[in-house]
Amino acid sequence: MKHLTGLSGISPATITGILDKAALHKDLFLHAENEIPRTLQGKRIVLAFFENSTRTRFSFEIAARNLGASTLNFSASSSSVSKGESIVDTIKNLEAMQVDAFVIRHPSSGSAEQISRITDKHVINAGDGTHEHPTQALLDIFTLRDYFGSLQDTRIMILGDILHSRVARSNIFGLTALGANVGVCSPVSLLPADIASLGVRIFTGIDDAIRWADAAIVLRLQLERTTGGYLPSLEDYSLHFGLTDERLEKIRKHMLVLHPGPINREIEISSNVADRIQPPGYSKSVLLEQVTNGVAVRTAVLEMLFTKTET
Ligand code: CP
Repeated sequence: MKHLTGLSGISPATITGILDKAALHKDLFLHAENEIPRTLQGKRIVLAFFENSTRTRFSFEIAARNLGASTLNFSASSSSVSKGESIVDTIKNLEAMQVDAFVIRHPSSGSAEQISRITDKHVINAGDGTHEHPTQALLDIFTLRDYFGSLQDTRIMILGDILHSRVARSNIFGLTALGANVGVCSPVSLLPADIASLGVRIFTGIDDAIRWADAAIVLRLQLERTTGGYLPSLEDYSLHFGLTDERLEKIRKHMLVLHPGPINREIEISSNVADRIQPPGYSKSVLLEQVTNGVAVRTAVLEMLFTKTET
C-alpha cells in the first residue's frame, strides 16, 4: 500500500494491522520515558492543507516529527495557488524539492486520488470534499475498539449530516469491513441518494436510533451548507436530531459518544453530553480520547506506508 486515499475496498486485515500498530504507538507517545523509533528519519512530509484544520493537521505534524521526519507546512492562501497556480503544478514543484510524501486536505472530492496518479510520492487523504477522511475513521474505529474490544456485531449509529460528510463515508466502509452494524440517523434531506447501497440501517427518528445503538458518532452540522434549503432552521434540527441528556434519560440508554470535531455546542450535541467523561448520566464522551488516538493512528499510517513500500 503506497497511498491512503480512502477506506473503500480496504481489507479488514489492513485496518487491523494499522490499529494494532497504533496501539503500540499510543503507548510510546503517552509515556515520555519511551523512545519512539525514528523510522522516518530524513524524510520530508508536506502538509498540504487547502482547507482549514486543527486536529488533523497538528496530529499529522506531531506524528511525522515523532518518527524523525521533517514537515513542510503549505497553506493555499500564502502559496502561489493564490496567484492561480494549479494543484498539479504545485505538487510537481514540491516534488522537485525532493519531498517524500503529501498529506492533502482539499475541498474537491477525489483530489487525493487524482494527486496519487501524478506523483510517485506517498499520498494520504486528510479529507477531500464530501468523499473520504480515512484517518479520521481509523481513529474513530480505534477508539471504539478500545472500548468494545471488538467491532464485530456492535451497533454504531452515525448521527447528523450524512450527505456532506466525508467522515461518515469512511466510517461506513471501515466499520462494516470489521463486522459492525452501522446505522445512520439524519433528516431525509441530509441523506445521500445512494445510502441504501452502502449496507447501513436508516433511521429518520433519533429515539429509535438511540434504542438500537451501542455508540453514536455525532457529526458536525455543516453550518456553511444549511442555507441550501436542507433544513427548516437550526432550532428545528437541534430539537429533532440533537443528542441531549434529556433524550438519553428518557430512553434510559447508556451510550458511548464520539464526535470528530469541531463541534457546534447545543446544535448537534449538548455540552453536558459532549463533556461527560465520567458517570453519572447515560452517556460517556470520548471526544478528547479520539484526538489523542488521532496522533497514534496517524503515526501508524505514516510508518506503515513508508516501511511497507520502501524496505
Ligand atoms: N475532525 C477533523 O478533521 O478536524 P479538523 O478539521 O480540525 O482537522
